[in-house]
Formats: sequence, C-alpha cells, structure tokens
Amino acid sequence: MCERASGVVLDVGFGSGPNLEHYPAAVTRVLTAEPSDLAWELAADRVAAFGRPVERTSRDAADLSMLTDDSVDAVTSAWALCTVPDVEGALAEARRVLRPGGVLHFVEHSRAPDAGTARAQRAVQPVWGRFAGGCHVDRDLPALLEAAGYRVELDRATHIGPGPVRVWGWFVSGTARPT
Ligand SMILES: C[S@@+](CC[C@H](N)C(=O)[O-])C[C@H]1O[C@@H](n2cnc3c(N)ncnc32)[C@H](O)[C@@H]1O
Repeated sequence: MCERASGVVLDVGFGSGPNLEHYPAAVTRVLTAEPSDLAWELAADRVAAFGRPVERTSRDAADLSMLTDDSVDAVTSAWALCTVPDVEGALAEARRVLRPGGVLHFVEHSRAPDAGTARAQRAVQPVWGRFAGGCHVDRDLPALLEAAGYRVELDRATHIGPGPVRVWGWFVSGTARPT
C-alpha cells in the first residue's frame, strides 16, 4: 500500500507510525490524522528515523479543515477506516484534500462477502467495538468508498484465516480514486 505513494501523503489513523518505514523516498512529507496522544508518543522513534517531515495535522480524519483543497498527493489508510467514527465524513475530507489525480491507498478489514461470516460480524460488532477502540468488523469499506464518490480497484480481497478468524479476517486492499 505504502510503496505506491509519493509526494505529500496524508496518513489516516497513523497510530504509532508503522507505515513510515514502508514509504518510498518519493514521499516527501507525511501529514497525519490521529486522535491518540499515546500512539503519537509511541511513534517518536519511527518519526525520527524517517528523516523527512511528519506532522500531526489533525486528530480526526473527518475534520481536515486545516488543509486546503487539492493539497495532498496521496491518502493512506491501514486498518483505520474501520475505526474512524464518522467514516463518511473522513472519506469526504480525503476526497476534498486529494489533488486531481491523487489516490487513496488502503488496506482494511471489511464486511465479508459471504452471508454467514457477515452475519457473525454483525453479531460480534457491539461487543468487539467496545473492546477494540471503536473498530468495526462489519463495515463494507469498498461500498462506502464507492458511495463517497471513489472508483475502487481491489488488489486483494481475501480471508486471512479459517474458522472464527474469518470474522476479523476479511481483508481488502487497493486504490480509490475520486471520480
Ligand atoms: C487499528 S489502528 C491502526 C493504526 C495504524 N494505521 C496501524 O496500521 O497500526 C486504528 C487507528 O485509527 C485511529 N483513529 C480512531 N479514530 C480516528 C479518527 N477520528 N481519525 C483518525 N484516526 C482515528 C486510532 O486511534 C488508531 O490509531
């Protein structure tokens, strides 16, 4: 996901910065949207090692009012759009700040396409969400992206494990381009 980014990147749900070591040299600056102070503190070593500017731009991906329209080259989201409370707002903001031709790169877990797993995901969600910081296993991310005005191309969509793991393990990765 990170390898294809370049220029100024907005990293949604930056967490403790695990994406940083995967960005290529073509990434010149990383802006972040991350509410957790602890995650930002834990990112300190990775930020120092990155050697290019990394800024804590926003605490909520649904509010990027400090960024002007068309001001970033790429948006990345690694297992973050499952957690952002106002996911529609975040997708609208990402669309606004992406420059023409810019791309949102994502790897997420999402609602599974098979009815049985999707039913199990709906069933565990109320408890899971409370224990996992608001994470949703039952959001259909590709559908949300399409509804928000992106053209989605999936690189991979796969279960990562058998049995109960399937509930958490329908992973989708790819690109979303504003239409
Ligand atoms: C599962 S973690 C993923 C973190 C990181 N991307 C990674 O791969 O390790 C989800 C992240 O989304 C962040 N998050 C929650 N609400 C958010 C919001 N409104 N805007 C941006 N990020 C948010 C959480 O604090 C957390 O760091």
